[in-house]
Amino acid sequence: MLTGKRILLGVTGGIACYKSVDLVSRLKKQGAEVKVVMTDAACEFVSPITFQTLSGNVVHTKMFDQLFNMDVEHISLAKWADLIVVAPATANTIAKIRYGIADNMLTTVLQARRCPLAIAPAMNTAMYESKQTQENMKALKEEGVHFFDPCDGLLACGDVGAGKMMEPVDMVERIRYVFTEKTLAGKKVVITAGPTLERIDPVRFVSNHSSGKMGYSIAELARNRGADVTLISGPTKLEAPWGMKVIPVESTLEMFATVEKEFDSADILVKSAAPSDFRPAHYTDEKIKKKEKDSLTIELTPNPDIAKHFGKLKKNQFIVGFAAESHMLEEHAQRKLKEKGFDFIVANNITQEGAGFKGDTNIVKIFHKEGWQKDYPMMAKTELAKVILDLVEEGLKS
Ligand code: PMT
Repeated sequence: MLTGKRILLGVTGGIACYKSVDLVSRLKKQGAEVKVVMTDAACEFVSPITFQTLSGNVVHTKMFDQLFNMDVEHISLAKWADLIVVAPATANTIAKIRYGIADNMLTTVLQARRCPLAIAPAMNTAMYESKQTQENMKALKEEGVHFFDPCDGLLACGDVGAGKMMEPVDMVERIRYVFTEKTLAGKKVVITAGPTLERIDPVRFVSNHSSGKMGYSIAELARNRGADVTLISGPTKLEAPWGMKVIPVESTLEMFATVEKEFDSADILVKSAAPSDFRPAHYTDEKIKKKEKDSLTIELTPNPDIAKHFGKLKKNQFIVGFAAESHMLEEHAQRKLKEKGFDFIVANNITQEGAGFKGDTNIVKIFHKEGWQKDYPMMAKTELAKVILDLVEEGLKS
């Protein structure tokens, strides 16, 4: 959530203005307060009334149109904002920001700002790739300005290439990143997520219901808190999150080998994956054929226990384990906590509605190596990620 955050949106002239309308709506739904400043060119694409209605605030367009307010408007707007986002940002406005040109309401507010600034460029590919625009963006990045980089796609001019403004849904995530305190800066966090998949033949496999949502939520929050994140992911339907190293793996053996490469340099290891404990003893190159009335027996052989192995090798690493249980949760979780060398374990009863696999929520009980345990009510996996990383940070301090 962005509750109470004051975001000033600068809108410059480009067809992507229509996406900024959606951005205002999304920011409002996240609890942010939004004010909008538009350039004359932006007003040619979308009416200020659209932004006014959605933001619930007067839209500022003209330097000398201040009859409604006795403040020096560009100064009071600049002071008001916790963050200024320019979206879409044209090549022209980016150049003006770099050189401190203040010739309209928006660029004047930008010149007076003291808060962080984020820029979402949107323009034709040739303009975006031009030496001038690239140099302007590089210089602004060096000054600490955040860039919400555009993606490749079909542009309004008919060209295909870089310059398409980032989608509002992704911008909201980047804005959340800007606002998050970087409490894990300098820490390397390795997270395993999702299921593993053990092949029987070219068609069939052994796996489980893990969606990866729990692990991905932790990885995204760790990134927002400034950590250097490595996400080792079994096969999931989730998109690879930005701003981290994502290593896709398939089997438990592959997950083991990948954790082995990353473990020594890790400060924190979070084992939220659900690796298969067994794999077929023999892989059959050809599809196993069905024979009428015959039953089929597949011999399974044990996979290594990744957590247990690295729990024994740990030096300074802080290790968080998970336990997916269907019964005797406390007994099993306490045993795994000790056997696997975890600092704490997050146990979920996967038979409980709202807990465990697939959904967006979880219900857990945490058992800490220091002897305490605590029940947590049903909460979004994104919220649980906060609980878990707060406990990790507390643990690192003690
Ligand atoms: O991915 P989602 O759909 O969001 O679901 C989340 C989850 C249910 C997968 C997650 O909350 C969870 O409980 N993950 C652990 C699943 C699991 O494998 O639990 P376990 O009790 O079998 O294993 C205990 C611990 O050992 C876990 O940290 C596990 O990652 C680890 N392990 C297990 C087996 C194995 N061969 N190697 C391991 O490292």
